[in-house]
Amino acid sequence: MCGVVGFVGVRPGVRVIFEGLQRLEYRGYDSAGIATISGGKIHAVKSDGKLLRLEPLLHELPESSFIGMGHTRWATHGAPTTQNAHPHLLGNLALIHNGIIENYRELKQELIADGHVFSSETDSEVVLHLLSRELKTTPEIKGALLKIIPRLRGAYGLGIMWGGEPEALYLVKEGSPAVIGVGDGENYFASDALSLLPLTKSVIFLNDGEIARLTKSSVDICDFSGKLLNRPPSILSWTAASAEKQGYRHYMLKEIHEQPAVLANIIGRLVNPLTGAIDTKQMGIDDLDLAKIRSIVYVACGTAYYSAMISKYSVEQFIGVPVSVELASEFRYRDPYLDPSTLVIAVTQSGETADTLACIKHAVARGCQTFAICNVQHSSIPRATKATLYMEAGPEVGVASTKAFTSMVLCHYLFGLGIGQKKRQIPADVYEKAIQALKQLPSAADRAISTAGLVEDVSAKYYESGNFIFMGRGPSFMVALEGALKLKEISYIHAEGYAGGELKHGPIALVDKYMPIVAIAPLDSHYEKMISNVEEVRAREGLLIGVGDLHDERFKNLCQDYIACPQISDAALQTIVSVISLQFLSYYIAVKRGTDVDQPRNLAKSVTVE
Ligand code: F6R
Repeated sequence: MCGVVGFVGVRPGVRVIFEGLQRLEYRGYDSAGIATISGGKIHAVKSDGKLLRLEPLLHELPESSFIGMGHTRWATHGAPTTQNAHPHLLGNLALIHNGIIENYRELKQELIADGHVFSSETDSEVVLHLLSRELKTTPEIKGALLKIIPRLRGAYGLGIMWGGEPEALYLVKEGSPAVIGVGDGENYFASDALSLLPLTKSVIFLNDGEIARLTKSSVDICDFSGKLLNRPPSILSWTAASAEKQGYRHYMLKEIHEQPAVLANIIGRLVNPLTGAIDTKQMGIDDLDLAKIRSIVYVACGTAYYSAMISKYSVEQFIGVPVSVELASEFRYRDPYLDPSTLVIAVTQSGETADTLACIKHAVARGCQTFAICNVQHSSIPRATKATLYMEAGPEVGVASTKAFTSMVLCHYLFGLGIGQKKRQIPADVYEKAIQALKQLPSAADRAISTAGLVEDVSAKYYESGNFIFMGRGPSFMVALEGALKLKEISYIHAEGYAGGELKHGPIALVDKYMPIVAIAPLDSHYEKMISNVEEVRAREGLLIGVGDLHDERFKNLCQDYIACPQISDAALQTIVSVISLQFLSYYIAVKRGTDVDQPRNLAKSVTVE
């Protein structure tokens, strides 16, 4: 979850490292630090809180620092204090760590018994002490690393610098992401390629079990047995500008606004505009053995999980095989039944979520076919699956997912349609209807964006409420869940999403004249039932905020406030349009409450610990 950045070159590096950390701050932001080497000595500054608090300390680092590394932390072991901030220092050695050392307690006890004194409560510091002890008998970093690595259990992306080798940075990867940027007379590393975009597009993604040594003019990679490897760089397709705010007040607002274009791009890339044929090759479907698939299991977390739940309403219908959707953090620990006839699909924006990755490794071990629907190219999950459908939504920097969610829902839909087309099992009229709905989608999303002002007015009425209920039926139930998650994440208001029909089985007890209830009722086959649920709430004086069709006077008249939402002819795709209103609702409520919209407390964008 933490962000790591390293730089080695011939120009002063402190600012380069700091700016790299700024681009990574969405990974973690509870403390930060930078260490450099100058004159053969390590120099470091650290601070609790966000990078803003570190910036005034940068002048304490020597101007002539041509090598260094930085860290932005999401605390796992030890409170978010300056003392626990990375880099950790010992003698002339500095270390930064992204991940968790699971056996740190036993290692720490052993090291303390050996006379080592610890200066933080972190798990990471044990690696520093192990390395420092090893350097006494193996006085070079690579050799010492090869000796201590077998003692470490857990996940780690480690950055290491040593005054004894002042021209080199080391990067070690096992379980946590680590990428090297290859520059012109300078080289870099980071936990996320996004951080490297303005510096270089030429990158090498380390694999688990690899160590890299970077100098200003060389990158040498070996495996954990010390064998040298030849790893040519790949070229990133994202641009630096796509990761900027581009005049918007927040990344989240920018990313909400990008959705119509992102959706149009996905459709344009994967659906032939003349014939309506799906490009199953580009989607990775051609890499799967379709005849073998008897069931599909989606694994995902958070927003990605809700997107996958919507796939039940499209993929199952198009493919005609049972689809189940599992929370990755639960699935991996219950020893699920899996056999080679199951296709396991990971849904993930970052491609790094630790639990989702673990599910894929489990599925591979059981002989299943595996597939990823992912946004970040070359990330760990697509590298572990048989095939991948890249969303190509561009960088998502706001911690709360918006365009990734809607892109996922669309990709599930196209995936189902693509397999159905390939297996020739979708009736022509159903296929044609789906293509027509896809054609309506980008402009409907665009019209949903234009309701921002209206949603902002509604937000102004409710932003002080302490609780919210969201409800929907069918695919809109997932919109309710996602709407509640967005509100919780960025405004810190307690919110729950319920299936409309479930309300009377308990949650309706919460309804009174102070409770705002966001009801999502598009004109789909669940509409009548949903209106009954709305009536039930109204009878108990709940404050109804409706999200439905512009001309639906019946629904509108039941609600205190109403957000008119464009309608399209497919219930699964309608979720994409409806959710945009709820993204705006949570955004404007959060802005009014003055929270940190792009970096809400306690969260991190890329959840690389379990
Ligand atoms: C919520 C959010 C998270 C992520 C979840 C999975 O707005 O962003 O719930 O959806 O952490 O992340 P990925 O998709 O990167 O696997």
